[in-house]
Amino acid sequence: MPGAIYAEGLVKTFGDVKALDGVDLDVPEGTVLGLLGPNGAGKTTAVRCLTTLLRPDSGKLTVAGLDVLKQPNEVRRSIGLSGQFAAVDEYLTGRENLQMVGQLYQMKARAAKARADELLDQFNLADAADRTAKTYSGGMRRRLDLAAALVVSPPVMFMDEPTTGLDPRNRQMLWEVIKQLVSGGTTLLLTTQYLEEADHLAHDIAVVDHGKVIARGTSDQLKARTGGERVEVVVHERDHIEIASEVLRGFGKGDTTVEEHTRKLTVPVTGGAKLLAEVIRDLDTRGIEIDDIGLRRPTLDDVFLSLTGHLAEEKTEENGADTTPDTKDRKQKKEAAK
Ligand SMILES: Nc1ncnc2c1ncn2[C@@H]1O[C@H](COP(=O)(O)OP(=O)(O)O)[C@@H](O)[C@H]1O
Ligand SMILES: [Mg+2]
Repeated sequence: MPGAIYAEGLVKTFGDVKALDGVDLDVPEGTVLGLLGPNGAGKTTAVRCLTTLLRPDSGKLTVAGLDVLKQPNEVRRSIGLSGQFAAVDEYLTGRENLQMVGQLYQMKARAAKARADELLDQFNLADAADRTAKTYSGGMRRRLDLAAALVVSPPVMFMDEPTTGLDPRNRQMLWEVIKQLVSGGTTLLLTTQYLEEADHLAHDIAVVDHGKVIARGTSDQLKARTGGERVEVVVHERDHIEIASEVLRGFGKGDTTVEEHTRKLTVPVTGGAKLLAEVIRDLDTRGIEIDDIGLRRPTLDDVFLSLTGHLAEEKTEENGADTTPDTKDRKQKKEAAK
């Protein structure tokens, strides 16, 4: 039986650009799928097709057991969506925006107001609740947009790069909100450019590049393909390499590699920062002086490099290209203004 979100052979082209080139997805009910990929990979296009906002060229799509192409209205009623394109009304206040969403979902006025207040608090927007959204900063708008998507808890949610543009505190807050939502049984498809985020929130990850799913698995499986998490130590004295290597062996999940000339030792680990602290303590106890030590986690770039042989960054350059003239223009204007 297909999951709560299902796509088979999804294709969408824009002129010459094949934004989606035969994507298959299957998200079991009550789980989170992280769609991970760099700018231009096709993430937003996939979300828009699945949420009835865009008609695919071909493919079979179902959401909450409904055929997306044949039953778009029913699909819209059973999903929540947040993303760059979701509707925040500029001329309404934050509170009015949220109350309006509640009313659209047939909530009673009092319940809609209570829910709006709760969300304004949760999303750190209480102080700005009675200002029009027009006056909000980018980050505030983003939070209002996310709050609007959460007024009711639909069985299936889509979030397109929910934390892009949020500061670390609000990112953390949103992660908590998402976890609550999912523990309530919601199925979620979340797109992101950050492995760390998919790692934190997603049961399963599909890595997309050029409109294709190039890898899928749990975060641990993907990381394992890139070498996983590791501790790197640079010892001060060459004579200490051997004993340091022994210490690391006790913590490692695999073989320690040693680079004699840089006095650098690397060992694969699991256990993160807590383990790193233990390693430092142990090295210290044995009187091994260290020049440098760190926990190295695979990043999206590492995953990409190992999967495709190129960095995710190469593509942002393409996108960056259209912003360059603008930036240059602004710089020139700034110079001229002096
Ligand atoms: N409306 C559109 N018209 C033309 N090209 C588009 C349109 N939307 C997206 N694309 C192109 O499709 C590709 C995938 O875009 P998108 O789905 O927005 O990627 P992502 O969300 O992963 O950054 C990109 O090459 C983008 O330029
Ligand atoms: Mg996008």
